[in-house]
Amino acid sequence: MKKKTRQYIKEYKWSNVWAMIKNNRKDPKICTDRFSGKLVVITGATSGIGYLTAKKFAEMGADLFCINRNLDKSEKLKQEIESSYSVKCKYHIADLSKLSDIHSAADTLVALDSDIDVLIHNAGVYLTKPEYTEDNLEKTLVVHYLSTFIINYKLQQKLKAQHHARIIMVGSEGHRFAAWGIDINDLNWRKRRYSGLKSYGSAKTAQLLSMIIFHDIFQDSGVTINTMHPGAVKTETGQENGPVYKWFKRNFLDKTLRPVGISADAIYFLAADQSMKSVSGRFFNLTTDEDPAPPATDREVAEELWKKSIELSILNNN
Ligand SMILES: NC(=O)c1ccc[n+]([C@@H]2O[C@H](COP(=O)([O-])OP(=O)(O)OC[C@H]3O[C@@H](n4cnc5c(N)ncnc54)[C@H](OP(=O)(O)O)[C@@H]3O)[C@@H](O)[C@H]2O)c1
Repeated sequence: MKKKTRQYIKEYKWSNVWAMIKNNRKDPKICTDRFSGKLVVITGATSGIGYLTAKKFAEMGADLFCINRNLDKSEKLKQEIESSYSVKCKYHIADLSKLSDIHSAADTLVALDSDIDVLIHNAGVYLTKPEYTEDNLEKTLVVHYLSTFIINYKLQQKLKAQHHARIIMVGSEGHRFAAWGIDINDLNWRKRRYSGLKSYGSAKTAQLLSMIIFHDIFQDSGVTINTMHPGAVKTETGQENGPVYKWFKRNFLDKTLRPVGISADAIYFLAADQSMKSVSGRFFNLTTDEDPAPPATDREVAEELWKKSIELSILNNN
């Protein structure tokens, strides 16, 4: 048995699994403070959790800067938000599965004149079959993990200079599907049999591992970074998959899922509540602090992944 597998088996605790099951039934804590005059950046605001979260922040007075892939949906969102609330809603179009678009989105954020008060990494996909991007990278890895890594990496100096910001990565309890950890030598799923759940779990585990290092980088700077599971909620996720998956989702999965409003409330609480001001480097199930699975807390792997991510993201040249 591999050394890491033995290590993780020892570290797994049943109490954490029971806690997760119990927490899955809880409602999020609610923050009622307004967020007027603040700027919130959110990726994937055109559907599901991102859409309701964008509306929640707008309702509470925040201006929005959305990073979306679809122009028509973005324009519709802008019209809806600006006509319903007295806030601004700008957008930048980027396909977060393409490195060039991720870099241009990150550069656009770095160049913003105003402070970024909250940065929400929300965009995501669920793919039952592997898809490879124009950069020859596995799509789930890029959208869920590399896009967040590159944007956080490039924003380090700006956010530190502001002395305040809250980064929230929309992760998932699904990180637990990568039960024996990520394969640092095959992040792209070229050497192993791909499965939608395992690839999703690995990408969300990678996101949690990157949080360990970003938390160190931002320590004492006023910038916090946390990851959250937004609940198992009914959204448009998985629409890229075939008819069998969509039928199963519509007829079975969707009937067990909770309304998306809980995700928006939870993200708002983590981003706006005073009690969260100095909390960083944690994983939340909605708004309940929880221990991630052992592979997602492995600092040794986090450091290896960091180096690998810089290579994959061609960050040394940017
Ligand atoms: N739903 C759940 O129960 C659940 C549970 C745990 C975690 N999550 C996480 O929650 C986040 C949001 O998911 P959701 O359930 O709200 O799904 P969703 O309804 O499918 O929304 C996903 C959003 O991401 C955008 N997006 C997808 N691929 C993109 C790309 N390549 N570039 C830019 N934007 C892209 C989508 O844009 P379009 O509108 O153009 O499609 C959409 O705005 C994801 O990170 C997901 O892993 C969801």
